[in-house]
Amino acid sequence: MPIVTAANLRKELAGSLLFEGVSFSVERRDRLALSGPNGAGKTTLLRMLVGESETHGGELSFAKGTRIALHDQRPPLDRGLTLREYSLTGARDLIETEEELGRLEQAMATGDHEEATRGWPGDAIHANVRQVLADGVVTELERANLLAVLTEMANCDFAATGSAQAEPMQLPIDDSAVVEMQQAVLVHTGEFAYGTRARCERLSSDMGALPVDSVTGKTDVLVIGTRVSRAWLNESYGRKILKAMELRKVGHRVRIISERWWFEHARRAGRVS
Ligand SMILES: Nc1ncnc2c1ncn2[C@@H]1O[C@H](COP(=O)(O)OP(=O)(O)OP(=O)(O)O)[C@@H](O)[C@H]1O
Ligand SMILES: [Mg+2]
Repeated sequence: MPIVTAANLRKELAGSLLFEGVSFSVERRDRLALSGPNGAGKTTLLRMLVGESETHGGELSFAKGTRIALHDQRPPLDRGLTLREYSLTGARDLIETEEELGRLEQAMATGDHEEATRGWPGDAIHANVRQVLADGVVTELERANLLAVLTEMANCDFAATGSAQAEPMQLPIDDSAVVEMQQAVLVHTGEFAYGTRARCERLSSDMGALPVDSVTGKTDVLVIGTRVSRAWLNESYGRKILKAMELRKVGHRVRIISERWWFEHARRAGRVS
């Protein structure tokens, strides 16, 4: 669904026609450029989008939650801002979130709260945050993943148990023996403290494993993300676990390990610091 749809827009200035029949739509992730001679009405059209200039015909519609920031076509040069910072001044809250994340990463890196960040799962979350910040851009997927992981951990019945550790999982986990990752057909299931699925699969590949999506007779390793809800049986990752357990019953040697143990393998293999 488009974020912005303009249909047949019309604009008059002082009684004479500036433009008419202007239609376009903007999809998520689109980057559009508008070009035309001086005075053609480009700025006027943009002002119509933010409601600063009246429309004299046609329709404008926006997806729910759309935010528009209109910046002057002559950005101020004396404010010591980069172009990225200037254009993101329309989304100040996003910048603040990134800055906060940067400060937290610094605090973790310099050893504040060492007991929390050196041990599980703080170490995986720290590695997650480091990578999220590495390219200087926090994507929506990364943001959603971090939020899900942190919320889940903050919600872990702290009030009832007084423990900030996630509830122990009542699952058949083989976290005792070292697992051979080289050429292992490996499936991830659940949400990982370490990051998005793509990132976890990359780490598994780095360890020499072959990440795939579903559990079959060829599966060697099933890794269960730290964020496992109590209703795990009903979720798709719960079904992967059940499938792995069925396979074991009929003699397949699929290993089920926790994210923690998987992450420990990555650490031992020198794939994460
Ligand atoms: N407040 C205004 N009152 C009357 N006419 C205006 C007003 N603002 C702009 N115009 C006129 O409307 C037309 C379109 O102006 P607009 O600023 O939208 O053009 P533009 O395409 O952005 O031009 P530029 O390439 O110079 O930025 C021009 O003829 C301009 O003189
Ligand atoms: Mg202009």
